[in-house]
Amino acid sequence: MLSMIIAIANQKGGVAKTTSTLALGGLRAQQGSCLAIDLDPQGNLTTGLGVNVTDDQLTAYEVITEQAEALDAVIKTKSGLDLLPADISLAKGETELLSKVGNFYILKERLEPAQSHYQHILIDCPPSLGLLTVNALAAADRLLIPVQCQFFALKGLEALLDTIQSVKKRLNPNLQILGVLPTMAEKNTVMTQDVLSTLKNQLEAIKIFDPVPKSVKFAESNLAGEPIHQYAGEWRLVQPYRSVIQAIQSES
Ligand SMILES: Nc1ncnc2c1ncn2[C@@H]1O[C@H](COP(=O)(O)OP(=O)(O)OP(=O)(O)O)[C@@H](O)[C@H]1O
Ligand SMILES: [Mg+2]
Repeated sequence: MLSMIIAIANQKGGVAKTTSTLALGGLRAQQGSCLAIDLDPQGNLTTGLGVNVTDDQLTAYEVITEQAEALDAVIKTKSGLDLLPADISLAKGETELLSKVGNFYILKERLEPAQSHYQHILIDCPPSLGLLTVNALAAADRLLIPVQCQFFALKGLEALLDTIQSVKKRLNPNLQILGVLPTMAEKNTVMTQDVLSTLKNQLEAIKIFDPVPKSVKFAESNLAGEPIHQYAGEWRLVQPYRSVIQAIQSES
């Protein structure tokens, strides 16, 4: 069996892509084999899992520039989740990819050896629609789009949906949207209700998952290098992520 690859993407910054990858990866690693890929030169997924990239550690940079095999760069983290780490060198890697033939498919190709090792592979994308994100979309079977419950939340979503359509048409007909995950929802505020109803009205064909509540526990769990279900264990914080896992499993 080959892995199901799930990209977590939205070119808007700070919408909880990394937090969601950590939460989902932590839950998946409890039950099966899961690899999380940090595809963001900010390296927030890597630090969020308590990993400090040393000079001799292989990273996503060496993998996409064909200096290392993906499986040789994988780190086992204490949460049980495997990590392909990244640091700022990945920014240089994205530039180096520009001159490569077939550069939309490099990540897909480089992940092939890992695909028989994991049930699920999660890719945490950077906040842009650049070459790294397009590589993630070209490799992915499913896409999860976290959207922050904030004014202007839907701004930019159209550009993302256009990119997804182009990727489906030209690069990866297999790509499907798993759903939109509203994040940082504040109970009973007009803003959150407004965002949720707009999402439901405007994205009729797309599944909108239960919203993830706003809570400082997410930032704290990042600092502690622990997935949210271990750090907080509060049902209301973890349940939306469990629903996403169920949706993934029902399609596996
Ligand atoms: N449900 C939540 N409630 C409150 N804060 C949250 C929640 N989810 C994420 N955050 C916080 O919001 C900030 C942005 O989250 P995160 O880094 O996951 O977003 P991102 O989309 O990966 O950002 P970037 O685009 O920079 O990669 C972080 O400080 C994180 O701790
Ligand atoms: Mg991030």
